[in-house]
Amino acid sequence: MSLRRLYHTQPESFAFTPANQAWADAQITKYPEGRQASAVIPILWRAQEQEGWVTRPMIEEVARMLDLAQIRVLEVASFYFMFQLQPVGSVAHIQVCGTTSCMICGAEDLVGVCKEKIAPNPHELSPDGKFSWEEVECLGACSNAPMAQIGKDYYEDLTAEKLGELIDAFARGEVPAPGPQTGRWASEPISGLTSLEDARDHDANASVDLARRFGDTIDRIQGEPPAVRRAPPPVAFEAPPVPAPVPEPEETVPAKIEPAPVAELPAEQPTAAPAAEPVEEPAEDGTEPAMLSEARGGQPDDLKQIKGIGPKLEGTLNGLGVYHFDQIANWSDGDVAWVDEKLSFKGRIERERWIPQARGLAGLGPTAAKPPMLSEPRGGRPDDLKRISGVGPKLEGVLNGLGVYHFDQIAAWTEGEIAWVDDQLKFKGRIERDDWIGQASILAANSTEGR
Ligand code: FES
Repeated sequence: MSLRRLYHTQPESFAFTPANQAWADAQITKYPEGRQASAVIPILWRAQEQEGWVTRPMIEEVARMLDLAQIRVLEVASFYFMFQLQPVGSVAHIQVCGTTSCMICGAEDLVGVCKEKIAPNPHELSPDGKFSWEEVECLGACSNAPMAQIGKDYYEDLTAEKLGELIDAFARGEVPAPGPQTGRWASEPISGLTSLEDARDHDANASVDLARRFGDTIDRIQGEPPAVRRAPPPVAFEAPPVPAPVPEPEETVPAKIEPAPVAELPAEQPTAAPAAEPVEEPAEDGTEPAMLSEARGGQPDDLKQIKGIGPKLEGTLNGLGVYHFDQIANWSDGDVAWVDEKLSFKGRIERERWIPQARGLAGLGPTAAKPPMLSEPRGGRPDDLKRISGVGPKLEGVLNGLGVYHFDQIAAWTEGEIAWVDDQLKFKGRIERDDWIGQASILAANSTEGR
């Protein structure tokens, strides 16, 4: 295992693209109140997908988003070798498993190919900058040894010759199918199946099938063109000025990484942010909603029934004078902006759809209204609605039958329109549960915007 520390040169800043920011914000809402730190791996992974490798400004931004000490994010990034701490090849980074099964079955030959075709040393870029490689520990595909992970996919049952061909194919811009490279379907005996012989309904296993559907084995950001995921070449990083001494800090946690000339994280300071940092102003159009001094009849509603509200947030809301579902259900945009200012994760009221949830809980459902439908897909090319998690081939057929063919149609549905479509589906409530609107918004944006 190689020493894992931040790269010696770093870009100046990091920011998610709008689509990735929306995705990351949505991930945070999946975790219970107070547990948002658990989103660190998916968010860091998304950031790496965007930039190609994990940078210091990226770690700082992810720490800020999750209200974590920067060292906590660095600990995660430096522990898992799924995170790349230095620039990788612009086309592919090849992780060759070198553990027992793979070693016995020829991993050393695969490493030899990487040395010959890419660069003599692990983590060294090929001369054209397109490839890099490293040896990693067991990737859990031992029955298909030797193997390598390239991007998000496993290429299994490799030979030195086959790996060389794969690298050449990637270099030509091709997308080689992942999975076993010898014709095996998955990890069945090499001599063929002896049972369940007709159990397969696909010509490829699920992983290979997924890669084919995305048309890419390296990038899986849905709808994002793979060529734009890499960051521009890093610029030299200037160490930040040493912070002014802080009087009597209660306790400082020593950084676990060795002092490095440029890439070390600044120690956490227990003081407030520097005075020069701009203070966020409350939303101009925020208006305090009607509040109560106490719950009506001394019986507050259980606000925790609203997805996204935990005991802590319920206490905050009660402290503000919010005790009942119908109070939340009737918030105006200005009221939402005002309450939003009081919460630690801005935007969550909209993201988590508190108002429709509260309307439902208060017995104030939206009025169903049929959304605008199309008689046929625009340009004869429907979007692949199955890319929305929760929509399978059958549901896609139902939606097409109703006149829904495009992500932007779904993204524009109002509450009443959701209620109308919900009525047409067999599993009521799935649009909200699976967050079709949020997913469709991202897919629609990605189909029109590059990064
Ligand atoms: S030993 Fe290589 S995948 Fe397990």
